[in-house]
Amino acid sequence: MKKPIRLGLIGCGGIVQKTHARAYLALSETETVKITALADVVPENLQNVGDQFDVTEQNRYADYREMLAQGGIDAVIIATPHSLHAEQVIEAASAGVAIISEKPMATSLEEADKIMEAVKHNDVPYTVVHNYLWTAGMQSAIALLPEIGKTYYGRSTGMGLRSTDFTANHPNPAFAWRASKATGGGCISDTSYHEIYSVCTLVQSPVRYVEARVRTMVLDIDVDDFAMLLCEHENGAVTTVSGAWSVPANDFGWCEVHAENGSLRVKHRYNVREALHRFTRAEGWKQLELPDLDDEGLKDASGHAGYFAATFNALAEGKALPISAEKAYHNLAIIDAARRATTERRAIEIP
Ligand SMILES: NC(=O)c1ccc[n+]([C@@H]2O[C@H](COP(=O)([O-])OP(=O)(O)OC[C@H]3O[C@@H](n4cnc5c(N)ncnc54)[C@H](O)[C@@H]3O)[C@@H](O)[C@H]2O)c1
Repeated sequence: MKKPIRLGLIGCGGIVQKTHARAYLALSETETVKITALADVVPENLQNVGDQFDVTEQNRYADYREMLAQGGIDAVIIATPHSLHAEQVIEAASAGVAIISEKPMATSLEEADKIMEAVKHNDVPYTVVHNYLWTAGMQSAIALLPEIGKTYYGRSTGMGLRSTDFTANHPNPAFAWRASKATGGGCISDTSYHEIYSVCTLVQSPVRYVEARVRTMVLDIDVDDFAMLLCEHENGAVTTVSGAWSVPANDFGWCEVHAENGSLRVKHRYNVREALHRFTRAEGWKQLELPDLDDEGLKDASGHAGYFAATFNALAEGKALPISAEKAYHNLAIIDAARRATTERRAIEIP
């Protein structure tokens, strides 16, 4: 794909304005991408992002289908409520553009199967944002994985407390859709999603069995605010993932892996100097220096800039994208299994 890649955005809300925009600015400066079209149903969001990136008035759309039909874009980024991902990815695949979707892939495995089919049928590149793998601590931990040997235990946690007015009637639409089943909300698919792929990356082996309790404990919502998973991996390793919108934990966002040659502990959700610790029998626990943690690194707290740079460069070079459709599907399959394990009160096998 020729640089600059002509990019269309579907959804110009919170994550785009607060986080993606900074990554797009950096990528525009290196002439890797150029935002040429936008779609959003809220005019104010279209205007904010359109003005920031000098997108012409005629290329700002209320209906994303019109944007896809007009042509003139090579790739789209989809950053809308979860219940819209499947429909929008399938439309974008039919339009023949490369697709970068915010997580999760979809709200169910049935939707995800349709996405896989559409992407294959139209032969378009497709990937899902697993951004926290690009924080400085996580990148350094990933580089150390070849040294730690066979993994046997991992754990990951992201527990926090939402206010009691976090309901489907909240005036902030970004809260309201997250608090509602109809729009694909819930703690496990919105928040714990990241803890699941983070610990799986460290353990380096797919999950085969999931036991879990995914429940609504405190908030007045029809989706989960609490998720506790116990997973068995193909290599025999066991992992736990704990996530919540209903627990005032004060250590949000870290994961660990334990292996035959030592252990790693990462604050995967923050770009901070103390983000990575390593244990060896010879030295005990030690904090490691993070070579890529300059001021710029500190600004990319969510890893989005690193993720987008890796993804767009792979697109431009015609290489495989760093997060494959299969990886994203597996993450959703773990979430689906956790929900089933809760209702069926048994371990669920992931084929
Ligand atoms: N990877 C991360 O760290 C991270 C962080 C936050 C959000 N996200 C993901 O980003 C996505 C969006 O989340 P958000 O926080 O920006 O939500 P948001 O509610 O702030 O933004 C969603 C945007 O989509 C627009 N929209 C709704 N219906 C639309 C339609 N039919 N066509 C076009 N646009 C439409 C809304 O008007 C809004 O501007 C979700 O998938 C979420 O999980 C990811």
